[in-house]
Amino acid sequence: MNLTINSYQFGERPDVIKPDPDFYNQLGEDGIRKLVSKHYDLLRESPIKKLFPADNDELEKAKQNSADFMIQISGGPDYFNQHRGKPRMADRHAAFTITPEGRIIWLNCYKQALKELTIPENLILSFWNYINVFSNWMVNTPSGQYKIDDK
Ligand code: HEM
Repeated sequence: MNLTINSYQFGERPDVIKPDPDFYNQLGEDGIRKLVSKHYDLLRESPIKKLFPADNDELEKAKQNSADFMIQISGGPDYFNQHRGKPRMADRHAAFTITPEGRIIWLNCYKQALKELTIPENLILSFWNYINVFSNWMVNTPSGQYKIDDK
């Protein structure tokens, strides 16, 4: 499966297409929660691990919030809106140093987690296309700079 990472100019917010609803229909809520859990476990071992909670209870909450969002965006119940309010994703990420390189690491962790799925390739690709594009909205710091002390 060819999951390539797009490159964008800093500050670009390209148009996003949501994942195919069959991604949610085939994986189900439980499958999406497992995928997000695996993604966070990989992030915790990655070069950007300092961005994510070290505490296990906090990590579980982060997994839940993120899975709530991914379920919602994939056509499932609007759990994120119910628990956290309006998504405003770029604003929610504003406190964190997210560089173009950080985005690539974040996407590569998803790439690894997605490769374990057994659903049809076109559905995996539709989720990948969504995160590939939308992740650029979260990039808020040019390469080599830091907003907080997270070197
Ligand atoms: C498709 C792109 C992305 C989506 C849909 C997404 C989604 C989310 C969601 C739903 C949350 C929880 C927010 C809350 O409950 O208030 C979150 C938190 C966070 N995200 Fe993202 N994110 C994306 C990209 C990224 C990228 C590229 C990075 C860094 C490289 C990142 C780093 C973080 C951090 C540090 C947090 C706070 C800790 C946590 O709760 O996990 N995110 N993200």
